[in-house]
Parts: sequence; structure tokens; C-alpha cells
Amino acid sequence: MSERSPGAGAPLDAGAIRAAMGEQAALLKGLELVSETGSTNADLLARPPGRAHAQALLADCQTGGRGRRGRQWFSPPGRNLYLSLGWRFDQGLLEPGLLPLAVAVGVARALARVGLREHGIKWPNDLVRPEGKLGGCLVELRGNPRRDCLAVLGVGLNVHLRGAPGVEVIDQAWTDLGTHCPAVTRNAVAGAVLAELPVALAELAHHGFPSFHDDWRRFDVLRDQPVMVRGEGADAYGTARGIGPRGGLLLERDGAREEVLAGDASVRKMDTP
Ligand code: BTN
Repeated sequence: MSERSPGAGAPLDAGAIRAAMGEQAALLKGLELVSETGSTNADLLARPPGRAHAQALLADCQTGGRGRRGRQWFSPPGRNLYLSLGWRFDQGLLEPGLLPLAVAVGVARALARVGLREHGIKWPNDLVRPEGKLGGCLVELRGNPRRDCLAVLGVGLNVHLRGAPGVEVIDQAWTDLGTHCPAVTRNAVAGAVLAELPVALAELAHHGFPSFHDDWRRFDVLRDQPVMVRGEGADAYGTARGIGPRGGLLLERDGAREEVLAGDASVRKMDTP
């Protein structure tokens, strides 16, 4: 039995991606597709900031795909989206910790645009559905984030991952877009992401995070859940109460709130500490 969805198999195509972006295609300076690279994020970070701004780079496959917190990102050919967008903030950012969250909101909006429902964001920027993780974002910065910096926004999304050889290396629950939207193509998803991200970035640069709060609240899958955050130091426990001013997860415990700035959050079963 073939496990492939009808939308699987379409090769990445710059014309189709631009068509899916609609008017927002004018916001990109360049759109580059490569068949294979180590990491699209690493490639854009190696360029001078002026050449990387508003430049999108997509690969059909990555041999050294990078995930958050030093992990590898499984990047087999022909299945998924591996996309990076360079963006220069020449006035810096008021609070750089909010950028990865704004990127996740942009991607969540894009997924709604291709017809996905019931998806959300798991702080800081995992894209999830009830079945598991759909994708994630890796934001890397060069320069001074409060003055003038280049941000490289990497987005990895499982599009038609079901049945891919080697998929058993993924050590957490996952799902893919094709399971929920069988006709979706990587070009349509790339077009939607590349249409939404520049809008979100301009929104963040000009108005800060307040205009994202409603969407964050709508997509936040951890809110009011008992969670554990595994970071650099000791694990932190508490009830998730949204995000703090620096983009950290607000954890409430014994009536006090603490903003946890980095880590991996998971929802706790009620019988664990
Ligand atoms: C995560 O750990 O959830 C973030 C994964 C980000 C993966 C994307 S794929 C495109 C870009 N290039 C990389 O090497 N990583 C990001």
C-alpha cells in the first residue's frame, strides 16, 4: 500500500512558490532553491548581512540540518520543507527573545492559510497538532540584536514525511501536514510561510509584540497546563501562564510566577511531581 498523499511528489519550484505568495512575493529580494546542502541556516549566516536580507533559501534535503538546542534536524530528500529567510533589523530589536515567538506565530498563520486546523505553538516555537510535532523554527542572530543584526529564520516542516526511510530516528511524537491536508504541496506551504514571515517581521519591528498577543494566546497549547521545562539548569515545574516580557514561559508555582527563558517544555501527567 502506498503511504504517499496526493500532494506528495511535486518538486520544489520557484514559480509555484512565488505564485502561492501572491502580492507578498514583492517583499522578497531573492528566492533560491538547492537540491542539497548542509544547513540552509548556516548558508545564509555565512553571507554578508546586506546579501542575506529578504533572501529565502530552500533545500530539497539537508545533510546537517540543525535543530534547537544543538540537536540535529532530520532532513530527508523530497518530503519536507527546509527553508531559511534572512532578515536584517537595522534598528535592532527591543526584545530579541520575542523574535522566535513572532516567527512561530507567522508560521502558524501560514499553516492556517494552507487549510490546516487544530494546530498550535508549543513554547517557544514548535508547531504542533494533538498527534505530535509538525515542525519547528530555529532563529539565529549575527551582530548586535539591540542595534543592528541579521536574523536567520529557519523553518522545518514535516509535509509528506509518512513512510520516509529512516524516520524512526525521530525520538518524539510527530505528524505531517499531508496526513491532515492530503493535497497540500511543499510549494504551497513554502509560499504561505514566505508570505507570512516578512509581514510578521515588519509587524514586530514597527509595533513590537503587542499585536501578536491575541494570536499567541490562540495558538498557545501550553496555557494553563501543568508543565516541566528542561533547560540548562535544574528542571522547572509549574502551571504555564503564557509568556513573559522577554519571551520566556511564565510558570506559576505556589502563587508565584517565574519567567523561564530557555528550555524544552512538556506537559506533565498529573501524577508526576
Ligand atoms: C527545532 O529544533 O524544532 C527547529 C528545527 C529547525 C529546522 C530548520 S530546517 C531549515 C533550517 N536549516 C536548519 O539547519 N535548520 C532549520
